Amino acid sequence: MIYVNGELVPKSEAKISVFDEGVTHGWAVYEGIRVYDGRIVELDAHVKRLYASAKGAGIKIPLSPSEFREAVIETVRANGYRGCHLAPWVGYGELGGEPSVVIRIREVGTRMGEPLTAVVTSVRRAAPDSIPAQIKTNSRLDLMLAKVEAQVAGADYAIMLDHAGYVAEASLANLMIVKDDVVYTPCATSALEGVTRNLLLCLLPMNGVEACEGNFTLQDLWTADEAFICGTGAEIRPITKVDGRTVGDGDTGPVTQRAIKLYETYVRENGEKIRY
Ligand SMILES: Cc1ncc(COP(=O)(O)O)c(C=O)c1O
Repeated sequence: MIYVNGELVPKSEAKISVFDEGVTHGWAVYEGIRVYDGRIVELDAHVKRLYASAKGAGIKIPLSPSEFREAVIETVRANGYRGCHLAPWVGYGELGGEPSVVIRIREVGTRMGEPLTAVVTSVRRAAPDSIPAQIKTNSRLDLMLAKVEAQVAGADYAIMLDHAGYVAEASLANLMIVKDDVVYTPCATSALEGVTRNLLLCLLPMNGVEACEGNFTLQDLWTADEAFICGTGAEIRPITKVDGRTVGDGDTGPVTQRAIKLYETYVRENGEKIRY
């Protein structure tokens, strides 16, 4: 069952106008939310970011944040999924009309901890004075072009630089590297301020692992002891090869393993429990 403008309808009936500006011009914002074992991960943080994205994009969501929160919970409940990914989406609507609200949901498994390879792409992340990366918008062509470039190169993920040449993020996930037991992640200026990233920036130091934001270069990435991606949909996955260079010793490093454990424990204990 898919939520469309206040109603839960079967997938085949989940439709919006082809004149919606979200469809015609990508004038829409969205979230990616995950449920593990009947618990929604960081629901409030996702709802908060959705409203911030909408404000930045000039879209007025026709629900209050607490109504939106309930709509997400109801969508999970209606489908009875214990492990799933939700994509709440708000389009500007037809010109002169009302914004449209859709909550897609699909049952998914986990790929947490699965190693992956990456390449740095020639396509850069949009500059902050172009499409601000903090707005989680449907206008994602820069990310999709990077993804295609990575696929053509035979890699699992694309890593993108920012307009100044520093490492920004992966195509649909944030990036963290580890050097001498310290975790570094790019500032959220040309990277989405990821919910998973923010959570790890809290959980790691609380558990004795130094973690900080800052600019880092290709050489920092190529010579990192460990590197991993993190995101709600992407989960936490070690990068074992980047641009053909082996990261560390090519295995999942101890800090990456620690991050996965801390995240999994947090989600188990703090996720919003669904009453099915
Ligand atoms: C471009 C981009 N960066 C980072 C992320 C990770 O963000 P989060 O942890 O909030 O899912 C995503 C998630 O979809 C993304 O699309």
